[in-house]
Amino acid sequence: MSIVVTGATGHLGRHVVEQLLEKVPAAEITAVVRDEARAADLAARGVRLAVADYNAPRTFDGLFAAGDKVLLISGNEFDKGRPAQHQVVIDAAAAAGVALLAYTSAPGSLSAALADDHRATEKALLASGLPYSLLRNGWYHENYTENLAPVLAHDAVVAAAGDGRLSSASRADYAAAAVAVLTGEGHENTTYELGGDEAWSFAEYAAELSRRTGREIVYNAVSPEALTGILTGAGLPGPFAAILAGVDASIEKGELVVTTGDLSRLTGRPTTPLSEAIAAALQD
Ligand SMILES: NC(=O)c1ccc[n+]([C@@H]2O[C@H](COP(=O)([O-])OP(=O)(O)OC[C@H]3O[C@@H](n4cnc5c(N)ncnc54)[C@H](OP(=O)(O)O)[C@@H]3O)[C@@H](O)[C@H]2O)c1
Repeated sequence: MSIVVTGATGHLGRHVVEQLLEKVPAAEITAVVRDEARAADLAARGVRLAVADYNAPRTFDGLFAAGDKVLLISGNEFDKGRPAQHQVVIDAAAAAGVALLAYTSAPGSLSAALADDHRATEKALLASGLPYSLLRNGWYHENYTENLAPVLAHDAVVAAAGDGRLSSASRADYAAAAVAVLTGEGHENTTYELGGDEAWSFAEYAAELSRRTGREIVYNAVSPEALTGILTGAGLPGPFAAILAGVDASIEKGELVVTTGDLSRLTGRPTTPLSEAIAAALQD
């Protein structure tokens, strides 16, 4: 029996494995990776590695065992049909009879196109009959704090979210929730709406950046079409830029405000404030 984490060499997966290592012996953790070399540090610490790819169903044959608790971290290959990729993992988990399949989803309130793959995966997971936990992760602080270069270059935050607010949290917070579910009891057939304790607006974000940098950083609210143009101009593929602009439209409607308190309840501590994430990013 093992706690198995897919996407273990991704940003969220790394946080999950690190936090698992604080709670359970390394030998009880299996990291599913595409490139073993990128997980050599984990293997050296005693974590078991399994090499598999969502695009190659056979690579999941025999990977899971009865009683495993599995975290399926949603993929990032938007153009490759993520529901079918995730189905591969669900099928393998069902064939093995795992004890729990947790899935990193999106908030139930999110109507943007980005949520479509998540809703399809949730449906497949429920249809599988497996004990499940839907970890409906809200937006990451890092979506903003890891992309400060253009903001600081132009002294402007550009978004298509109007006066909308969102309650983001750090990847480490969402990872802690996943670890609580994977290592705790009684999480079978649960849905958690996860988000930060405090909602913020882009005007407040710009104001906090101004305060921390001593510069005047403004918020430029643009239309989703204009944002799509700006993002494609910066090199993003058109369809992906449109998806991101669609998320901003959802933010304007309040769809990324999560008020359940599920995240801090699961982790047993307040979520990381955005101001703290900004301060850390500015120091890097
Ligand atoms: N809530 C949010 O704000 C937010 C923001 C961005 C993304 N997300 C979603 O949350 C997921 C985790 O976030 P993250 O920051 O950890 O993203 P990330 O760093 O891009 O990690 C994605 C992970 O998925 C793995 N993966 C992708 N395609 C795969 C395939 N065909 N087979 C096996 N593994 C595959 C990647 O493997 P490699 O390590 O081998 O590349 C990587 O480990 C993302 O993939 C995305 O679905 C959420």
